[in-house]
Amino acid sequence: MNKPQLHILVCASFRSGGDMQGVCHKKGSADLLPYLENEIVDRELDAVVTSTGCLKACDHGPVMVIHPQNQWYARITAEEMIDEILDAVEDGQVAARYLIEETKNV
Ligand code: FES
Repeated sequence: MNKPQLHILVCASFRSGGDMQGVCHKKGSADLLPYLENEIVDRELDAVVTSTGCLKACDHGPVMVIHPQNQWYARITAEEMIDEILDAVEDGQVAARYLIEETKNV
């Protein structure tokens, strides 16, 4: 098995009972998953996407995290935002204006 170069986490607000509750889910985080998956295929990125439980950054939801870069993005609600973030990743850059402020220098 080859390990992917990128692991993209999208908060789906899963709780211990499996219910999707919380800010990210309520603001539509799961709605962007098909677009994100399609973009990964179209761009031929070596990446996997995981929908997660609460990432403990609810005030910034919907939250998306890209590893191994450890980039934490806030309020991801539109396809254009995903495009900009993936463009930056492909260029080895950061889409700084979407980063969670507290994570910019960490
Ligand atoms: S519900 Fe997404 S960070 Fe808490």
